[in-house]
Amino acid sequence: MLSAIAVGLLAFAASETVATPQPQPIALQSRPTPKGHATGIRRRALSAIGVPLEDFFLGTDLQWFGNISVGTPPQDVSVVFDTGSSSLEFATDECTSCTQTGKFLRNRRGVDPVVNNDYVLTVKQATDSVTVGNITAKNLSFFTITKQTPKFNLDPFLGIQGMGSSAEGIFAFLVNQGLPSLFSMFLTPNAVGNAELLIGGIDNTKFKGNLVYTENTGSGDWEATASRISVNGKTSSVLNKRLNIVFDSGTSNILFSTSIANAMYALISPNIKPFAAEPGAYGIPCSQIGGLPAVIDLTFTDLNGTPFNLTIPSSELNVGPFDSDPSTCQTLINAFDGLDLVGGSVLKHYYSVWDIGNQRLGFAPNGF
Ligand SMILES: *[C@@H]1O[C@H](CO)[C@@H](O)[C@H](O)[C@H]1NC(C)=O
Ligand SMILES: *[C@@H]1O[C@H](CO)[C@@H](O)[C@H](O)[C@H]1NC(C)=O
Ligand SMILES: *[C@@H]1O[C@H](CO)[C@@H](O)[C@H](O)[C@H]1NC(C)=O
Ligand SMILES: *[C@@H]1O[C@H](CO)[C@@H](O)[C@H](O)[C@H]1NC(C)=O
Repeated sequence: MLSAIAVGLLAFAASETVATPQPQPIALQSRPTPKGHATGIRRRALSAIGVPLEDFFLGTDLQWFGNISVGTPPQDVSVVFDTGSSSLEFATDECTSCTQTGKFLRNRRGVDPVVNNDYVLTVKQATDSVTVGNITAKNLSFFTITKQTPKFNLDPFLGIQGMGSSAEGIFAFLVNQGLPSLFSMFLTPNAVGNAELLIGGIDNTKFKGNLVYTENTGSGDWEATASRISVNGKTSSVLNKRLNIVFDSGTSNILFSTSIANAMYALISPNIKPFAAEPGAYGIPCSQIGGLPAVIDLTFTDLNGTPFNLTIPSSELNVGPFDSDPSTCQTLINAFDGLDLVGGSVLKHYYSVWDIGNQRLGFAPNGF
């Protein structure tokens, strides 16, 4: 997760006062080793676990969160299931600077700057039981947030659950217990609702057509190699190149290097300009943004070598007025050198399958 409404991953890197969360070795509960066929007992496959997700709306429909439970008896903890990180971290009572306790703030539509020292978390390591659905992992390691900068108080959730491409934490435990090593995300606009994370399964009723898979080229991250970016059906020399793109369910906007962001905006409107007060962000007078065509096609290759597109429709271009200048609307693409990344603005248009066992990402148009 990074940028926009909440910053996780890079916020850690950005601050010296932060204890960088490194995934710790996790003590997995041992399970009995099957002893040949003598007993006739086989480990039963667990059924997939559905976690309902709520849309952090604020007019943008770009971030979703749901509950896991921690402790004995289990207490619900609301988290963003974040494919861009790998650990569990959340605010507890210890956090004196954390004001949010599930409080919803729906009156703000602006999007925060990409990454800076306004987003700093201080964390400490802890160990306790973690429950998802009706399965409990005892003695899991995670991080509790002991201090955070005020920007995080906007978030209606308490933390994030990392869902990186090497199963860790609760997910490693579930896989060890026999759950298939994949999860699926059905991220829907607020008006549609019923968003869901399905751990260990794929819900064929939630998408149209067939899933198309592409190789995960990330290690730890989820990443796929695009062969080309097109905007409004056109490409350019800067955009017609292979590019590794990270898929991050915890990030709202999309991030591309400055040259790519500029090349994309050149195909949308010359009136979209960097917004000086927030480095990396771009904007345009709100009076000019309505109806601007801005269809973004990201071309990937499936496992048979056939190209397919993931498409971000024009309706995603406007991410709302800047707080500091409400007559200027922020546009979807942020410039960020060293990282090319897409998030909620793509994922909400596709049912997505994050297949750890086969190290591939699957997509099909959402079925609503
Ligand atoms: C999370 O748990 C809280 C408290 O039990 C509940 O009020 C809330 O509706 C749950 N949220 C979701 C998205 O399930
Ligand atoms: C968990 O819930 C599922 C679905 O409700 C059920 O099939 C399964 O038996 C439950 N598992 C346990 C360990 O209670
Ligand atoms: C819990 O895990 C820690 C290491 O993370 C280990 O030192 C401790 O013995 C474990 N406790 C139990 C009860 O398994
Ligand atoms: C992907 O989008 C580009 C640009 O709109 C288009 O030229 C191309 O035909 C599309 N490819 C597929 C496989 O749909």
